[in-house]
Amino acid sequence: MTPIDRSYHITTFGCQMNKADSERMGGILEDMGFQWSDDPFTADLVLYNTCTIRDLAEQKVYSYLGKQTRRKKDNPDLVLIMAGCVAQQEGEALLRRIPELDLIMGPQHANRLEDLLQQVFSGAQVVATEPIHIIEDITKPRRDSSVTAWVNVIYGCNERCTYCVVPNVRGVEQSRTPEAIRAEIKELARQGYKEVTLLGQNIDAYGRDLPGSTVEGRHSHTLTDLLYYIHDIEGIERIRFATSHPRYFTERLIKACTELPKVCEHFHVPFQSGDNDILKAMSRGYTHEKYRRIVDTIRKYMPDASISADAIVGFPGETEEQFERTLELIADVGFDMVNTAAYSPRPNTPAALWANQLSEEIKLDRLQRINHLVSQTAIERSGRYFDRVESVLVEERNAKNTDQVLGRTRGNRLTFFNGDIEELRGKVVPVKITEARAFSLTGDRVTKIE
Ligand code: SAH
Ligand code: SF4
Ligand code: F3S
Repeated sequence: MTPIDRSYHITTFGCQMNKADSERMGGILEDMGFQWSDDPFTADLVLYNTCTIRDLAEQKVYSYLGKQTRRKKDNPDLVLIMAGCVAQQEGEALLRRIPELDLIMGPQHANRLEDLLQQVFSGAQVVATEPIHIIEDITKPRRDSSVTAWVNVIYGCNERCTYCVVPNVRGVEQSRTPEAIRAEIKELARQGYKEVTLLGQNIDAYGRDLPGSTVEGRHSHTLTDLLYYIHDIEGIERIRFATSHPRYFTERLIKACTELPKVCEHFHVPFQSGDNDILKAMSRGYTHEKYRRIVDTIRKYMPDASISADAIVGFPGETEEQFERTLELIADVGFDMVNTAAYSPRPNTPAALWANQLSEEIKLDRLQRINHLVSQTAIERSGRYFDRVESVLVEERNAKNTDQVLGRTRGNRLTFFNGDIEELRGKVVPVKITEARAFSLTGDRVTKIE
C-alpha cells in the first residue's frame, strides 16, 4: 500500500499544543506522500487529534468517529487514527470500544507517526501510549499560517491542579534545548514567518528540567533567558508566549518584555478562581492577592499591556459568595479576554471524586453570568483602542468579507481593515481603529504611525 496519491485529513480538537502537534503530523504525512484533503469523508487516511480537557470535547470526537467507522465498512482500506489526549487517556480500552481504529497514539508520539504507520501498513493495529522521551522534530510541519507559527518549548506539565487531565495525558515536563528552539525559529524566519508563539502548558517551567549552570543564584535556562537568546533572529518581528502560571510568573520576565521590543505586550495568565479557598482546593499555589500583584506589576511596567486569562466556574463546593469573588476579580482587573468554562469532572483527577459536586443548573447559571461580565469588561478594554493607530500584522483575508484582511495588534486583538491580501500578507501595517467590539476591531489603513 503506497501513500502516493492518497489523501489525508486531520481534524484538531483542543488547545494550541494540539494544533502544533497536528501541524507536525501533517508535515510527516506529506513527507510520506499523502496529499491534504479538506473533506474527512472522502480522505483515505483520517486522523482525529483529540482533546479531553472537558467531557464535551471528548464526546465530540466519538460522534465524529461513529461516522468514519460506518464508512470503513465499505472502504476497508480507510486508515483511521486517533491521536492526542483522549487517545492517551483511554489507550487500549479504545480498541474494544472502536475496533475499527488502526492506530491510537498519545501526544508524546506525534513525531513518530511515520514509524507507527509503517507498522499499520504491515498489518498491525497499533497502540502507542507509553511515556517516552520526546524526540526532536526533524520534519517540516504543514503549518496553517505562513505568517505566524507555534513553537513548542516545553511539553507536559508537572503541576497537579486537582481538576486537570493534562499531566495525565501529556506526561512530565520536557523542555527542548535553547539551541533546538533557536534553530527552528531561524528556519521559520528563513521561510518568511514574522511571528512566533512559544508554547508550554506551564511555560514558566521552561528549562527547569534542563541541565544548566546557576547564574546570579538562579538557573540559567529560564523562559526569560530564552527570550533574550532568540530575540535577535532576523526576520521575526513578533514574539509571543503562552501559558503563564501565576505561581511561577516573575518580575524578571516582565522586565525582559519591556526591554525586548519584539516581545508583544500581551500576557495570558489564567487565574481560574478569585477565591482563596477554591484556589487552594484546586492546588493552584497562589492567592488572589498574589494574582492581583502580578497584574499591578505588569501594568507598572506596561500600562497598556493586554491581559487575558482562563477561569472555571462551579468547581466542587464553590459557594455563591466564592463565585462572586471570581466576578469581583474580573471587574477589578478589567481583562481583555477571559476563557471561561463550567467545571467538568475528569477521569483520574482528584476533584472528580469529591462528594461536593454542583448541579449542572448552578454551573450553567454561573457560566452565563461570568460570560456576561467578561464581554462587558472586554468591550470597555477594547474602547481604549478607538481612534488610535495600531500596528497590525496581517495574516489572512477575511473569509466573511473578502475586501478585508485580518491580522492582530500587538495586544492580540483581531483586527479587520480593507486591503489586498496578496500585497499585505505578513506585513505590519498601521491601522486607525474606527470600531471597537469586545473581541475584535475594525479600522482603516493609514500611511504611518502617528
Ligand atoms: N496550563 C494552563 C491551562 C491548560 S487547560 C493553566 O495552568 O492555566 C486550559 C483551561 O481549561 C484551563 O485554564 C482551565 O480553565 C480549563 N480547564 C481545565 N480543566 C478543566 C475542567 N476539568 N473543567 C473545566 N475547565 C477546565
Ligand atoms: Fe493543568 Fe494545572 Fe498543568 Fe495547567 S498547570 S496544565 S491547569 S495541571
Ligand atoms: Fe485538550 Fe490535551 Fe490541550 S486535553 S486542552 S488538547 S493538552
